Amino acid sequence: MSIISVSGLSKYFKVFKHHRGGLGAIRNLFSRQHSIVRAVDDISFEIEPGELVGYIGPNGAGKSTTIKMLTGLLVPTSGELLVNDLIPWKERQTYVARVGAVFGQRTTLWWDLPVIESLNLLQHIYKIPKENFEANLEEFHETLELGPFLDTPVRALSLGQRMRADLCAALLHNPDLLFLDEPTIGLDVVAKERIRQFIQKINHERNTTVILTTHDLSDVEKLCQRVMIIDQGKLLFDGELSRLKDKFGGQRELVVDFSEEYRTYEIAGATITAQTDLQVTYAFERGMITASELIGRLSAKYRIRDLEVREPEIEETVRRIYEERLLE
Ligand SMILES: Nc1ncnc2c1ncn2[C@@H]1O[C@H](COP(=O)(O)OP(=O)(O)OP(=O)(O)O)[C@@H](O)[C@H]1O
Ligand SMILES: [Mg+2]
Repeated sequence: MSIISVSGLSKYFKVFKHHRGGLGAIRNLFSRQHSIVRAVDDISFEIEPGELVGYIGPNGAGKSTTIKMLTGLLVPTSGELLVNDLIPWKERQTYVARVGAVFGQRTTLWWDLPVIESLNLLQHIYKIPKENFEANLEEFHETLELGPFLDTPVRALSLGQRMRADLCAALLHNPDLLFLDEPTIGLDVVAKERIRQFIQKINHERNTTVILTTHDLSDVEKLCQRVMIIDQGKLLFDGELSRLKDKFGGQRELVVDFSEEYRTYEIAGATITAQTDLQVTYAFERGMITASELIGRLSAKYRIRDLEVREPEIEETVRRIYEERLLE
């Protein structure tokens, strides 16, 4: 049973053209010229309970628009969307009690209130039973290290502190689903790692289903087995991260340390891309030859001290997909 079921989902925005200048302002009142932005364009996918899915794509791809539809903040233009057996925007009241969301770009807490007061307010809004609330607060107090800033107004928090407060707020009511729109944006390496570990812990221990958008591909690499790639509103890839690399990874590398010097290090099926002293880097095309075949050929011809197969960087793979628009 899927926890999220999306079928033919689209969101179009009407963007009105603006005329400039004094007369333009008057023309703006009368002319209704507009263009249509297909922010999300006919996407379909299913997500099972307990999955942790990375949702990636370049700026303006449609990630936030998708998350906003999933959280019930936006009404789709067309298509079907069922989360937890509910239609998010239609049954909002019941719906929000079962999901949590963090928008990295904007806090969902009260700007002028101390963190703890925001959290107390949420207890009343979500009608969280006292024991649950206290147990969760105690746990998050520890894992998110909220102590130093519980009494600080949200507006005075650092970005990393604010993100931790927002994560706590999103999880106080034990949601089945957690939507994270760029939860690591703007954070330093240490703060990012902390947030990642927390997300992983929640997913493991509570079996919370998580959808995460990010521009930081190390988030995906460290957290997600499954990745969805969106560009210009279209879903370009949906599958295991390893399959993404296999399918679109292109060239792999083999770095070889030779035991002695040879006149040439040429080998059929691979091209030399770098060479220093006795170390040679070969590039070979996935699908044309396997790493073990190549190693076999090399060791038949040369004496080898050490070797290493390098996988393509996920950055490189994703860049290729964006560039080539390789559809499934
Ligand atoms: N309220 C709106 N009115 C008009 N156009 C919008 C609106 N919201 C989003 N768009 C447009 O829809 C497209 C997708 O935007 P969206 O915010 O979903 O992208 P994104 O993938 O989250 O990008 P980013 O990585 O920059 O956050 C963009 O072209 C954007 O300009
Ligand atoms: Mg966005």
